[in-house]
Amino acid sequence: MKHLIDLRSDTVTLPPEAMRRAMHEAALGDDVYGEDPTVNALQEKAAAMLGKQAGLLVTSGTQGNLVSLLSQAARGDQVLIGRQSHIFKYEAGAASVLGGLCLEPLTNEEDGAFRAEDIEAAINPPNVHFAPTRLLAIENTHNLAGGAPIDATTTMRMAKAARAHGLKVHLDGARLFNASVALGVDAAALAEPVDSVSVCLSKGLACPVGSVVVGDADFID
Ligand SMILES: Cc1ncc(COP(=O)(O)O)c(C=O)c1O
Repeated sequence: MKHLIDLRSDTVTLPPEAMRRAMHEAALGDDVYGEDPTVNALQEKAAAMLGKQAGLLVTSGTQGNLVSLLSQAARGDQVLIGRQSHIFKYEAGAASVLGGLCLEPLTNEEDGAFRAEDIEAAINPPNVHFAPTRLLAIENTHNLAGGAPIDATTTMRMAKAARAHGLKVHLDGARLFNASVALGVDAAALAEPVDSVSVCLSKGLACPVGSVVVGDADFID
């Protein structure tokens, strides 16, 4: 039993002794006043690693995705999302329930990416009958595509198709650092063409809880 490796999910990982010690000994401060040095250091480190201005510690990947969508799209706006994405399938429709967002599912390719033509075809023209399309959400690695990593060129192609129509782009990067290792590229290069990224700490990294959202300073505010 000592050598049993549980491969059901990377979420089963538990904090090792050194992490438990670091938690116990962490310097604390008031987070409302931005005075928690440990949280500040974590947020700054995550932002730097992903090439963004600022970061925000949240409780989970689901919360990270939710605050990212709700900050960048308003009630009645349309969000383009993978039919096989975690946000669409496994987050209880929260963006619609809590934010009034209209989720428009797109077909995922084998690696979880979208064809630029499919993104463009799903964008509503400005017309009073249609929900205004504001945001594209992508996922890397893509969980239901067997954990496939999506490379920087493909990410750029999807983001360009969205940006050409004034859309923002959110990346559910729950396992973005896995993609970075698999592709041998910096995580910042995979995050470069998007506005917001959510990364999970509670999966391969073995933290008991937590995710970090990064983006520009206005978005994080
Ligand atoms: C791709 C992806 N995004 C988001 C999440 C949600 O993370 P959490 O369970 O921390 O809410 C998961 C969880 O497994 C995931 O696989």
